[in-house]
Amino acid sequence: MTVADAAGDGAALDRRLLPDTADVDAAGALTLGGCSVAELAHHYGTPLFLYDEAHLRARCREAVAAFGAGNAIYATKAFLCRAMARLAVEEGMLLDVASGGELGVALAAGVPASSCVLHGNNKSDDELRRALTSGIGAIAVDSFDELDRLDAIGRQGLPVADVLIRVTPGVHAHTHHYIATGQDDSKFGFNLANGDAELAVRRAESSAATNLVGLHCHIGSNVFDADSFGRAAHVMAAFASRFDARQLVLGGGLGVPYVQGEQAPSITDWARVVLDACTAAGFTEPVGAEPGRAIVAAAAITVYRVGTIKDIPDVRTYLSVDGGMSDNPRPVLYGSGYEAFLPRAVEAERTRRFRVVGKHCESGDVLLQDARLPADVAVGDLLATPVTGAYGHSMGSNYNKLCRPPVVFVADGEHRLVVRRETIDDLLATDLG
Ligand code: LLP
Repeated sequence: MTVADAAGDGAALDRRLLPDTADVDAAGALTLGGCSVAELAHHYGTPLFLYDEAHLRARCREAVAAFGAGNAIYATKAFLCRAMARLAVEEGMLLDVASGGELGVALAAGVPASSCVLHGNNKSDDELRRALTSGIGAIAVDSFDELDRLDAIGRQGLPVADVLIRVTPGVHAHTHHYIATGQDDSKFGFNLANGDAELAVRRAESSAATNLVGLHCHIGSNVFDADSFGRAAHVMAAFASRFDARQLVLGGGLGVPYVQGEQAPSITDWARVVLDACTAAGFTEPVGAEPGRAIVAAAAITVYRVGTIKDIPDVRTYLSVDGGMSDNPRPVLYGSGYEAFLPRAVEAERTRRFRVVGKHCESGDVLLQDARLPADVAVGDLLATPVTGAYGHSMGSNYNKLCRPPVVFVADGEHRLVVRRETIDDLLATDLG
């Protein structure tokens, strides 16, 4: 029995998958942040990412309350634009940036570099130099080669780097193997079991170019099982207690429900598990975390327009929308499941099955393998997928030269365009002819 079947064939959308301020008007249509979704789609066109600002702020605040100011770090890879960087920092979070590009957007948003932690398993000299000259808060060091590079850069007179040593704790998280990172066989971090992590800590302590501020680990992403986090926290806290580590950062990775019937711990529950495990292992210094998905995923919906419906008797019915794998590559990459619904009839039973596909020239361009939708869905309808706020816009592409959709924030009956729709001119901006 699949999770969707467990929720009942034909069931209306579970409203808990929608952003916090989602509501249904007298006609049964969806509103978000007090704005009509149909009007927003009309105004901005489709496909369209709609983010509920109150929801984003509430999750940032929850993370800050759970881990403490200075220990709640938003992982910008999940969704980044200047408005998002500012919002997270306004709510008291620091930023995890995984490249010079993410750091550049954060700086352009007016976020001080001292509020950013730089990650990456292959940071370039330029990325390290720029981080240090702009006054980066900390660098999570991932390899011996990076320590060599920091030494070389240090000899050129750059500021001493405050570093976290990224440790691979040998804890396997239950998630898709593409996004599991805590096991020994990983491109990330220093292996704990073979002694590399200890060597790296000793080097960071003794090098003139680095100042050890703490230890870091990240066991994987979209993890639903709090025990995996507890085990990693225990291993890391026991290890950290052996050194002069002033902080432990336990990464992100908290999963969120994407489809009917799924359940995940809240940010508060997650924090309790990891903080208790650290205390039990005798680690009394601050413990930080880097949630990405748990902050932004459920804050957004993507709104598409239905363009074609093709019924193949005794086979299936294909329903094509005006986006696809270029605005949400997760189904193709990880086989991720989503729900779909009609914003004009949020509470309608979804009795008919469709394969919801995009407009790319690939049979694999599938958004939902087996969607349930109201039987009266028709060409021209708006169709929305909830829980698309994380790793959709940020992993989007221009495949088939599609223009990336705009991002609109809604709050208190107001809407604001924070990323405009791309144009053909944008596609040609780097093409020198
Ligand atoms: N910290 C580090 C060091 C990370 O590598 C990541 C995610 C995070 C924090 C944030 O993890 P989150 O809380 O968002 O799970 N594209 C994949 C997810 C890749 C995550 C990579 N690292 C997906 O769409 O599921």
